Amino acid sequence: MRKSAILYLCLAVFLPSLLAAAEPLALMPVPEKMTMAEGQYRFDASFTLAVEGQAHPRLYSGATRMLRRLSGRTGLFMTQDVITPQTRVEKPGLIIRCQRPGKVALGEDESYELAISPAGVELRCVTDLGGLHGLETLLQLLQADEKGFFFPALSIQDKPRFPWRGLMIDVCRHWLPMEVVKRNLDGMAAVKMNVLHLHLSEDQGFRIESKLYPKLHQLGSDGFYYTQAEIKTIIAYADERGIRVYPEFDMPGHTTAWFIGHPELASAPGPYTIERTWGVMDPTMDPTKESTYRLLDRFLGEMAALFPDPYLHIGGDENSGKQWDANPAIQAFMKKNNIRDNHSLQAYFNSRLLKIVTKHGKRMVGWDEILHPSMPKNIVIHSWRGPDSLVQAARRGYQGILSNGYYIDLIQPASYHYLIDPVRPDAQLTPEEQARILGGEATSWAELVTPETVDSRIWPRTAVIAERLWSPASVRDLDDMYTRMEVISRQLEELNLTHIRNYEMMLRRLANQQETAPLRVFTDVVEPLKIYKRHSQGVTYYSYSPYTRVVDAARPESMTARSFARKVEAFLKAPSGPEGGEILNQLALWQENHARLLQTMAKAPAIREMESLSRDLADLAAAGLQAGEAIQEGRKLGGEWGAVQKELIERAKKPRGQTELMVVEPIARLIQAAQ
Ligand code: ACM
Repeated sequence: MRKSAILYLCLAVFLPSLLAAAEPLALMPVPEKMTMAEGQYRFDASFTLAVEGQAHPRLYSGATRMLRRLSGRTGLFMTQDVITPQTRVEKPGLIIRCQRPGKVALGEDESYELAISPAGVELRCVTDLGGLHGLETLLQLLQADEKGFFFPALSIQDKPRFPWRGLMIDVCRHWLPMEVVKRNLDGMAAVKMNVLHLHLSEDQGFRIESKLYPKLHQLGSDGFYYTQAEIKTIIAYADERGIRVYPEFDMPGHTTAWFIGHPELASAPGPYTIERTWGVMDPTMDPTKESTYRLLDRFLGEMAALFPDPYLHIGGDENSGKQWDANPAIQAFMKKNNIRDNHSLQAYFNSRLLKIVTKHGKRMVGWDEILHPSMPKNIVIHSWRGPDSLVQAARRGYQGILSNGYYIDLIQPASYHYLIDPVRPDAQLTPEEQARILGGEATSWAELVTPETVDSRIWPRTAVIAERLWSPASVRDLDDMYTRMEVISRQLEELNLTHIRNYEMMLRRLANQQETAPLRVFTDVVEPLKIYKRHSQGVTYYSYSPYTRVVDAARPESMTARSFARKVEAFLKAPSGPEGGEILNQLALWQENHARLLQTMAKAPAIREMESLSRDLADLAAAGLQAGEAIQEGRKLGGEWGAVQKELIERAKKPRGQTELMVVEPIARLIQAAQ
């Protein structure tokens, strides 16, 4: 036998197993410690699992859900039914050994260990919360090859870096019914998040039933609010997934919706109506009246009894102070009590609130405006205006959580959020100060989202924030993160999240039931304007405006643009490499797309606002093609050509339809390199 034939035979025999073992794992969040081992645990429809030890019932229901998801993803007709403490199985493929029932509470043990060998899978956990996390890891480890499904042999020891890994959902600016919250809780559990912060009251809506003060929700919500029974359902659903739920009642500003039913709470006479626009509004509670505190005492007592979590968020952000300045009684109160300024008056209000919140057995959380020298150290500072407030809070003895940098409504790329660490290396905190930083929360503000689009603004970017809050600080490789994020994003769809599937549905509607391909080619490379710039484009958005246009369908981060930019960089380094052909094909597609999209537009008025941007994309793509071909052939294009393209590039950078074209930079790189 010739040497090459022997080599071929060896490869043919060993390569499949090598390939299987070498398949990159898409775990998100990355575990604290992981060691790969030889082989795989292979299973078929006879796969069963068993739970041993002392576990809360949520581990049994969690194990059942995991089994159904495994069966769903593999299509295997698994035979095991609902898993209960009475379940007995011979030789389970997965044994979960749990030491004790967990409590869904801050600081509970969430660690787990996973050991996969060709003989089976063992998941060990101190509490069922760790067990649930381990089951999510196992589902992320599922792989397949020509022989069927398997889990790769390995061992994992894992625990979170931060105990507070949250998502705040604003259900006020746009109402989000319970089903939206539930599917997002499933998404959170899949990436090991453990806190749902419900932002429940705002200028634009009061979204929870109060039995003591029914005018709050009856007059403040257009009928869109959670009943107390629904809130209990949400809390139970979250608890089953190891997730705490705590409410925010934003005060003293952001309170218009309270005042429709209770104008006596306000610092200026009414009447008030539910706000339909966005921005910082002036209506503010009157902190000088005892009647304000009497209502808040009873109302917060009612809410404290409804939400079992020991934390309660009182908001405290963006008080414009204008109603206070204009109210003579409030000014007189300040003078009489030696209260120097509005921040101090708000500190007085907060100290009164703190007494009430504490009396009802809760710890007070507030946005960073509540930081004031007069406030005691047992409040939690929620940093949003800048990272400094978290550092300041930790230095001054307060616990804190970070949201500055995790504002997913700002439509920034996953890479931006991913690299922001709650513990800034340059802050030089002592270990004791560092320990006061409990974690963070992604914040989903809802001015520009509806039930149809909210998932696409939350996922998959929130998954990388979840990783930042769970995984070791040293896990920071962006390429690796993006590769894993795309896999996890598709898995999240199994949980009824709509972040991928609604795209095509929205494009169909925009295309007015015509073929969507040309619109998809275009929308794939635009992103909504970032950092609230969408509000300054000559369009006034109301709560009842349509959120169904191209800008709403467009994803916050164009993976097509990202991938194209990376190929351009590779091409410029090695023009004869494989990327050249891919780039030229892509550019040709964009160049030709405009004529097709024009045909769609003829019968689709809602997308006509994109005509000029689509034309710019085509023109830019044509220039990119010329540049790419010149680079491949080692030619240079003349200076006059460059001057024409420069104008085109500037034109293409201008937003249209509140979106921006995300491939201008990489095409400009090609154009520049060709001159
Ligand atoms: C906030 O974003 N106003 C807390």
